[in-house]
Amino acid sequence: MKNRCNFLRILAALVLIALAPRYSVAQASSGSVPPGPRERLLMDFGWRFAFGNATDPAKDFDAVPDPTFSYFAKAGVARGAAAADFDDRGWRVLDLPHDWAVELPFSEQGSGSHGYKAIGRNFPGTSVGWYRKAFSIPASDLGKRIAVDFDGVFRDSQVWVNGFYLGRESSGYSGFGYDMSDYLNYGGDNVIAVRVDASLEEGWFYEGAGIYRHVWLTKTAPLHVAKWGTYVTTETNGHDAEVTARAMVNNDSTNQAEFTIEQTIFDADGHAVATDESKDLSLGPGAFSEFSSTLKVPDPKLWSLESPYLHKLVTVIRQGDAVVDRYETPFGIRTLRWDANEGFFLNGKRVELKGTCDHQDHAGVGVAVPDELDAYRVGQLKKMGSNAIRTSHNAPAPELLDVCDRVGMLVMDENRETGINPQELGELGRLIVRDRNHPCVVIWSLGNEEWAIEGDKKGTRITQTMQTLAQRLDPTRRDTFAISGGWGAGTSVSIDVMGFNYFTHGNNDAYHKQFPDKPSVATEDASTFSTRGIYVEDREHHHLTAYDTNKPDWGITAEESWTHYEARPYVAGLFQWTGFDYRGEETPFYWPAISSQFGILDTCGFPKDNFYYYQAWWSDQPVLHLFPHWNWAGREGQDIDVWVHSNCEEVELFLNGQSLGRQTMKKDSHLMWKVKYAPGTLLARGYNGGKEVLTDKVETTGDASAVQLTPHRASIRADREDLSVITVQVNDAQGRMVPTAGNEITFEIAGPGRIIGVGNGDPSSHEPDQFVEKVDAVPITGWRTQVVENANNLAEVGVDFDDSGWREAFNGRENGGGRRSNDNQTARTTVYRGYFESPQDANSAGLALELRSLGGQQSVYLNGQPMGENVSSTDTAYEIKLSANVLQPGKNVIAIVAGPRAGRGNRGGRDANQGSPALIRVTTPAGGWKRSLFSGLAQVIVKSTGQPGEITLTAKSPGLTDGVLTLQAEQAAWRPSIP
Ligand code: GAL
Repeated sequence: MKNRCNFLRILAALVLIALAPRYSVAQASSGSVPPGPRERLLMDFGWRFAFGNATDPAKDFDAVPDPTFSYFAKAGVARGAAAADFDDRGWRVLDLPHDWAVELPFSEQGSGSHGYKAIGRNFPGTSVGWYRKAFSIPASDLGKRIAVDFDGVFRDSQVWVNGFYLGRESSGYSGFGYDMSDYLNYGGDNVIAVRVDASLEEGWFYEGAGIYRHVWLTKTAPLHVAKWGTYVTTETNGHDAEVTARAMVNNDSTNQAEFTIEQTIFDADGHAVATDESKDLSLGPGAFSEFSSTLKVPDPKLWSLESPYLHKLVTVIRQGDAVVDRYETPFGIRTLRWDANEGFFLNGKRVELKGTCDHQDHAGVGVAVPDELDAYRVGQLKKMGSNAIRTSHNAPAPELLDVCDRVGMLVMDENRETGINPQELGELGRLIVRDRNHPCVVIWSLGNEEWAIEGDKKGTRITQTMQTLAQRLDPTRRDTFAISGGWGAGTSVSIDVMGFNYFTHGNNDAYHKQFPDKPSVATEDASTFSTRGIYVEDREHHHLTAYDTNKPDWGITAEESWTHYEARPYVAGLFQWTGFDYRGEETPFYWPAISSQFGILDTCGFPKDNFYYYQAWWSDQPVLHLFPHWNWAGREGQDIDVWVHSNCEEVELFLNGQSLGRQTMKKDSHLMWKVKYAPGTLLARGYNGGKEVLTDKVETTGDASAVQLTPHRASIRADREDLSVITVQVNDAQGRMVPTAGNEITFEIAGPGRIIGVGNGDPSSHEPDQFVEKVDAVPITGWRTQVVENANNLAEVGVDFDDSGWREAFNGRENGGGRRSNDNQTARTTVYRGYFESPQDANSAGLALELRSLGGQQSVYLNGQPMGENVSSTDTAYEIKLSANVLQPGKNVIAIVAGPRAGRGNRGGRDANQGSPALIRVTTPAGGWKRSLFSGLAQVIVKSTGQPGEITLTAKSPGLTDGVLTLQAEQAAWRPSIP
């Protein structure tokens, strides 16, 4: 036990030290404290991307035969695409967040639980992605600590900067970062290279692939608050709050540092409400330590669901008069209590957890969910009356927690891997240290359904070790584990708060009796499945009805689930599986179904009918929702099940004005009528105390006549990040939405906006979510070279010239296979000839020769035709557009005549690209955006390009009036970022 405790202590310290500086949000507005040198720059824009390969090194940019040095042999000498001077101009340019899996086609050979995308072990060519990002660092940064911080990369990433290896992170969900300070070129250009290998999976649900969350460049003084280095805890006595503000400070300089720490709490209006100063502090070179202040906030506004009030701690480090760091920590003052008999209390008030479990993907974008889309998703859940999210089954994006802090949504923050190896405990540690200042986080979930151990003694031991770490890093929160069996044994013995996964898996009451002092929560329940807008089961298309009737053998309908836990107030509430449909887990179907149907909302966030069941019983608002739709041509006279979700006391139904009876609503239930179909209007009237309070109707519509677009926000910030989620529907001639429509709609966009994804919530649609340009690098090989007397009228550039007697060039072998290449002879005029195969579809693609300078003046010929003449060598990289009509089918020849150049040759650089000084970049434009409606709806997500102005989205479908939508992109500051 002692050893384990020591290990945990070391691990906790490592978690804190290893993580380089984190956030000082660059709003220097609050308080009068000068900003200090800390900068946090978004690094999302202008990355280069290309597929590598999981099994073939040659296709993984690693084809130098017989290299002397491999990736890790020498500091700063990386190979292939990891090398500093690799020519990545044949790669696509894109912005983060990026999920390449969502761009891929569907394939039956793909993994069903991951949504059948063409990725994974069966697809080595699309399972490894490389990213590169060039950036410059000013000379004035010398002496600062500079780190790159990744919020999440799926998965198994390796990172280099300027050819120096920074490290490897296997987790697809944990945040990680690397100090790059010593490897950077100050006053010069730098490049980060990231290899991401998504061949293996971590979960059993769609996980995406790539750098799908933000990347940051963080600059600090050597003496600074560590990354995720503050920890704010609060206690209230009914009047005042006592706030303990701990700050981990790193001295990354080579000198002893003497300093002062000033910690100030600001209220939401920016007024300082408490401050504390610790003087005469010191840290030796390379040392780190935690410093703590206790501050009293008189009569504070509490953070609650109704009023999510945020305070901010500003930690300032001064040396003499100079501010060397200023670090902001938003936090909330609130109390939590879990009670074994009464459930969960926030600020002393019982709050029933009305939660959903959610994966992170959304229609159109996969897991590359922009911050504003997370805000949209949380907004949809709040509209339903939900007050809690379980981040099943992994660390969430930090920005999701920011949203929940802001809008008042409780979070069960869940860890991915269960276990006690250093990686696993490290992931848990990082989750807690990163997230423990968020007032929205009310409990840690250590894991989910660990079938091998949940009923077993090993389960108790493993959980205890994880709990010890969790308690050590955050004694203010309890922990839970989502447990699907063995209740009363294993994992469920030691856990702080019992997590029931599905009441069908055991007996809540028996467990409560066995552990009368243990609080509990239904960590997962329901798994009801339904397809939005479908009311007749259609197995051929893998569509289920949207009535609350379908469930797997372990599942429970919404009504059964809520009723069960409403009757057990000792349970703190429940988290329904799931808020949103997600890709993968296509239960109860297989291919060609590709998405789950457990959601209360579909993958677009369009409500299914159960949404209104929850809204009726979870929210405070009056609800009356009538379904199905009333377009049943051909079923005249047949019985249709008509349901109403409502919290009205009574509901009366009318068909074409004729009453079909008034029924009394039972609490937590729904109403149903069997109605013989006749076209027209079905109307429900809801009554409270005998008075009509609400009506809802469905009408038989005519054929589709016009397309309509409705944005979730008509005005967005012109900041390159904000977006609008647009609903697409078709209406009949009377302007009524046609609920059965499946029209294909095409989209055109003009102005400062771009479409980033389309979807429709159909769980078996194989239509693309994205239309992206394709960029291929066609290698030029077989290079030969010959010195010539002069550069004019050379037969040597001709298409049929026989160069077989010339010396081989740029093959990576001539100078020791990558040690150093000094191939280019610069003293004389030299001709180089290389060959490439004509790319397919060359006529529709844009072609460019990407050339690195080979000599003084140089001229370039394609099949004997001049493409660029007397290109100067002042720049080292050129792009020459090639005209497709000079291409010949099959083999083509590039000839470069390079004039003499003074000085030494360009060394080493070309080895990174297998020695070749040039490549052909082939750009195939993206097809036009389009998507079919499903059950009458589709979704388009439009993002700001950064410029202010009017964005016009036009939606067309043959025979229908166009839908035209205007969005305003309002002038807005961009977040500080790397260009
Ligand atoms: C649970 C599991 C979830 C999901 C769900 C589907 O057992 O925890 O991740 O698979 O089943 O019903």
